[in-house]
Formats: sequence, C-alpha cells, structure tokens
Amino acid sequence: MRRLLIAGNWKMNLKLDSAKALAQGLKDAAAGVTEVDIAVCPSPIYVQPVAEILSGSNIGVGAQNAYFEKAGAFTGEIEMAMLTDVGCQYVILGHSERRHIIGESSELINLKVRAALAAGLVPIVCIGELLKEREANVTNDVNRRQLDGSFSGVSAEDMKKCVIAYEPVWAIGTGKVATPDQAQEVHADVRAWIAERYGKEVADVVRIQYGGSVKGSNAAEILSKPDVDGALVGGASLKVDAFMEIINNVKAL
Ligand code: PGA
Repeated sequence: MRRLLIAGNWKMNLKLDSAKALAQGLKDAAAGVTEVDIAVCPSPIYVQPVAEILSGSNIGVGAQNAYFEKAGAFTGEIEMAMLTDVGCQYVILGHSERRHIIGESSELINLKVRAALAAGLVPIVCIGELLKEREANVTNDVNRRQLDGSFSGVSAEDMKKCVIAYEPVWAIGTGKVATPDQAQEVHADVRAWIAERYGKEVADVVRIQYGGSVKGSNAAEILSKPDVDGALVGGASLKVDAFMEIINNVKAL
C-alpha cells in the first residue's frame, strides 16, 4: 500500500519571516497527522531555517532544484550534499518551470536525478505535457519521453526510492485542474511505463503525485483515484489553512 505524499512547492515565494511562520504554523497544525507523508519545499535560501523549525516533526523538507556535480567551481549552483547537510530529504527535479522557463533538458534532469539518489535524497521528478500536446493527442508519448530521459540509467532499487509528479503544464497555476479521470489515465500509463522497464514489484511501490491547481476542494476526488499517490501543491501550499485543508481532506483515503 502506497502512502500518500502531500508536498508543498513554495516556488520563489515568501520571505524569511513568512517562510518561518508558515513552517511553524504547519508544524503545529499537522502535529497529529500520521496517515500521510508531508513535505515542504522552500526557496533554497530558506531551506535551512525551515528545516530547523521542522526538525523532529512529521513534515519533511525538500529543495526545488540542485546541481548534479560534486563541490567545485560551479558558481551559483547548489550541491546535492549541501541539501542533506542542512536537513533536506527531498529535491524536486525537472519541474515544468525549470524545463520551460530555464530550459532544462531531460538529459540534465537525468544527471540531477542520479546525483540526488547518490546523495541519499528522494527525487520528486516532474513530468507533464503542454496544452497543445494534449490537444494533439500525444500526452502519453510526451510523458514517456520525459520518463525515458529523466530515469535513464537508474537501477530498479533506486527507482523504488523515486517519486514522480505528473503535472500537466496547462494545469499549473491556472486554476484549470485535470479531471480525476484525466489524471488517472496518465498515472496508469506512467505506472505501466515503470512496470515495462522495471517490473511490477517496482511499479507497485513508486509514488506518482498529481500536481496542477490542487486545492482543498478538489484534492480528495483526484487522490482517490487508484494510481494517484499524492499531490505536489503550489499556490495552495503557501497558507497554513489551505495546505491543511488538502491534508485533512485526503488523510482518510
Ligand atoms: P499550482 O502549482 O498548485 O500552483 O498549480 C503546482 C506546481 O507547480 O507544483
């Protein structure tokens, strides 16, 4: 049985005081929650203070990106081992904003996925199609191509540790959420891809989150689908009440 993972992606939001207040508020509000896994992914500059607040709590901490190389002359980049050093357990990789705004390729994301695994981090690897790709009926092809590229060379044992986040690009920050059936259809194909490549035993344990305009009022319907194992939440993760509403509405699923 896969435990749901509800992760907040704070993106480039908040300041030191508001990030700390959100972490403290969530720590207090989620203290009794045992049914689901919870994580927050602050801006890298606030990862450490947030991790200090959440240390010993039931909320994990992740980063939103990092570099694949080991320490060295890489101005402006962050090493995976620096993330574990300040208390991170997760790292989001290949988010659509990094693929499409920053221009990251699946090849680069693959190097990062392997570096994250080598450092003992859980990579949350994002995939997802553009609206025009969905309209052209190539959704599964696009997602499979991103999976092929992002997980190239990853062993079955390592694959079991990974989380995949299916985030249709047209649903991110737009208020347009995929229907539960649309999400389930893609999630089932992602799980089929894992099974074809790694076998059913691996496919059965990998968690596949949905992301894109998830909020309290739509979370339970989407996450009750059999292949949807959690949510990667942007906008609704920036307020204690909104994030807790999602957690409270799905924890009994
Ligand atoms: P959203 O973002 O919930 O604001 O749509 C999701 C994400 O980009 O991870």
